[in-house]
Amino acid sequence: MQWRRRHCCAHTAKFLYLLSLLGLLVFLVHQVWLPKLTGKPWGGGHPLVSFGGDELRATRPEWNLSAPQSAWRFVRVPRQVLTSDANVSSPEKEGVRSPQGDAGLQNTSTGVEGELGGGVTHGPFPYVINEPDKCAGGRAAPFLVLLIATEARQVEARNAIRQTWGNESGAPAQGLVRLFLLGTNEGELGLLQQRMLEAESRRYRDIIQQDFVDSYKNLTMKTLMGMNWVAVHCPQAGYVMKTDSDVFVNTEYLVHKLLGPDQQLRKNYFTGNNMRGYAPNRNKNSKWYMSPELYPSDKYPTFCSGTGYVFSGDLARKIYRVSLRVRRLHLEDVYVGICLAELRIELTPPPNEFLFNHWRVSYSSCKYSHLITSHGFHPNELLKYWHHLQSNKRNACINTARGGRATLMQ
Ligand SMILES: *[C@@H]1O[C@H](CO)[C@@H](O)[C@H](O)[C@H]1NC(C)=O
Ligand SMILES: *[C@@H]1O[C@H](CO)[C@@H](O)[C@H](O)[C@H]1NC(C)=O
Ligand SMILES: *[C@@H]1O[C@H](CO)[C@@H](O)[C@H](O)[C@H]1NC(C)=O
Ligand SMILES: *[C@@H]1O[C@H](CO)[C@@H](O)[C@H](O)[C@H]1NC(C)=O
Ligand SMILES: *[C@@H]1O[C@H](CO)[C@@H](O)[C@H](O)[C@H]1NC(C)=O
Repeated sequence: MQWRRRHCCAHTAKFLYLLSLLGLLVFLVHQVWLPKLTGKPWGGGHPLVSFGGDELRATRPEWNLSAPQSAWRFVRVPRQVLTSDANVSSPEKEGVRSPQGDAGLQNTSTGVEGELGGGVTHGPFPYVINEPDKCAGGRAAPFLVLLIATEARQVEARNAIRQTWGNESGAPAQGLVRLFLLGTNEGELGLLQQRMLEAESRRYRDIIQQDFVDSYKNLTMKTLMGMNWVAVHCPQAGYVMKTDSDVFVNTEYLVHKLLGPDQQLRKNYFTGNNMRGYAPNRNKNSKWYMSPELYPSDKYPTFCSGTGYVFSGDLARKIYRVSLRVRRLHLEDVYVGICLAELRIELTPPPNEFLFNHWRVSYSSCKYSHLITSHGFHPNELLKYWHHLQSNKRNACINTARGGRATLMQ
């Protein structure tokens, strides 16, 4: 809102704003209403995901957070839902199995070992957009996979990340893989967003999407999709970072200072902003409300804030597999913490408590050259601060020399 107030007052800006509204209208008419009226897909037979609301709903498994695990259903998705050139995976290719085959999801001794990454399939939701070959690609295994939770409408944020901390050329010697994680949206707007997303995916090849409703309460599905992707399509990845699209990440510091490309790859390693001794929020009006029915205990295990955590590649598969028998909770970071506790894996505290910040650290090149995450940025700010840091990182702390270390610690 502030952004609008500041920038939309000039006449030119107003004019451009109106022009873009007009553009959107033309786009809508062309791509959503016209095809509906004529019954023809837009673009003269351009193959598209058939994304009609009803069809989609029919293919969705029932989802009920309070239902016991045994009640989960793995449905076969009709082929026609998945026909597109946007590298949509066919159910056969991805290994959707009939309900009888579901036992395989929780049992490695069913003959699918190897073929599907050791009994890991894509889980209850099929991929709508996937990048199965992004990791292999003939190169060495990537050192770091960035999994970034985002929503369809956050195009600007994705573009800012592509140009800044998520640039895959950012650690050329080590190999960086960037993936945005998305669910699906319903309705007319959802359809429009889907088409734009598919165009974006064709251009950048950095989007994966599964067929679950994209909502805050489904964030856990999103994260598990990312873990699933690493487990199935990139099991040899050195490290994985899960973060959000409004986070500033100092990728260089993460790679070179925390992980150390020359060091032996760690196993069972999980670090971030350790949240220790937190109790479930029982206030129904809170965003973080957790009902006693879903989580009866009065303490969470230690977990890492979902704004940014880093783990060794081997854990993706372990966490995904254990999640198949841990009841889903909507708070994704808490949920991953519970999975780790179930695996009896202890979180590694970061070398200092200023690295992973789940709040916004006021910008200074000195502070930002020594941290890994800072949270709560508009895409324009990401661009601005990132570029500033790049051109000042050599002497990042010179101007704040008076405080030096002290400034860093604020
Ligand atoms: C969800 O599952 C629980 C437990 O099986 C059941 O009591 C509840 O009615 C279900 N809710 C819906 C909306 O199906
Ligand atoms: C789908 O992805 C593969 C590699 O992952 C690529 O070779 C192919 O051209 C893509 N298909 C389309 C239609 O973009
Ligand atoms: C997997 O299934 C086989 C045969 O159905 C069974 O003998 C074995 O105990 C199962 N393993 C696990 C880990 O559940
Ligand atoms: C990523 O970084 C490389 C090398 O610094 C640069 O050439 C390229 O333009 C960057 N990509 C984007 C999308 O900004
Ligand atoms: C989560 O996704 C499932 C599957 O699409 C959907 O049925 C459910 O309503 C979603 N839950 C929320 C809270 O959005």
